[in-house]
Amino acid sequence: MSIHKEVKKVTVNSILEMKATGEKISVLTAYDYTMASILDAAGVDVILVGDSAANVMAGYGTTLPITLDQMIYHAAAVSRAVKRALLVVDLPFGTYQGNPYDALNAAIRVMKETGAQALKLEGGVEIKDAVKLIVNAGIPVMGHLGLMPQSINTYGGYGLRATGVQEAHKLNTDAQLLHELGCFAVVLEKIPAKLAKEVTDHLRIPTIGIGAGADTDGQVLVIHDLLGFNKSFKPKFVRQYLQLDELITTAVQQYVADVKSSDFPNEQEQY
Ligand code: KIV
Repeated sequence: MSIHKEVKKVTVNSILEMKATGEKISVLTAYDYTMASILDAAGVDVILVGDSAANVMAGYGTTLPITLDQMIYHAAAVSRAVKRALLVVDLPFGTYQGNPYDALNAAIRVMKETGAQALKLEGGVEIKDAVKLIVNAGIPVMGHLGLMPQSINTYGGYGLRATGVQEAHKLNTDAQLLHELGCFAVVLEKIPAKLAKEVTDHLRIPTIGIGAGADTDGQVLVIHDLLGFNKSFKPKFVRQYLQLDELITTAVQQYVADVKSSDFPNEQEQY
């Protein structure tokens, strides 16, 4: 008998089960080993290596520049930390919008080189062939509809999506299609809460909301937003549980002062 306590791994099936039983699904992003260890131990159900790494890790203005190799680097680091959560990785812009077989190859690379358990792709009918091939290869896929940051240049801004009848209708149809293609969940980003509820009520797979109200089956936030790393980024849908920006600034200012005054290191902090 093992002396180690078994950790019950969250799987795609557990996520589907959570929808069936009405248990809400918690999702957070992570991009590195240390943060992922903390989130996993704290009990988050799903860890997403989002292509928002382009923004919060690399300082780009959009998610478009991040490469497949860079996503694999982040995802492999996160994977080394995660024991319990389901690990989902974003396929980056440019790897799945063209030839579906290229998309399949990108998907297989992520699965082989990172230890991820699922992938996330943005889009509906436009990417159906890629989704079908990836799902048929035995790779679970999470869809992503509503505000799709990889399409930012089409929108021209990060405003609320699907406020009109036509876009709302397309979103409903795309969600249904992703379900039929075998996706195990769909992220709904920045859409009216009423529409998110409608989609959620009509799907047997869970919806994970971000800026989509309280009626989705789960919620996702970028970890840097939840922890308040950036004081000036506070959209309405973010709840900041900490103001790390201020805490880190105070700590670093104190360190600088201690070094300048020769207070650090003291006698107990040297050999
Ligand atoms: O890249 C990301 O972090 C995401 C979530 C915000 C859903 O796609």
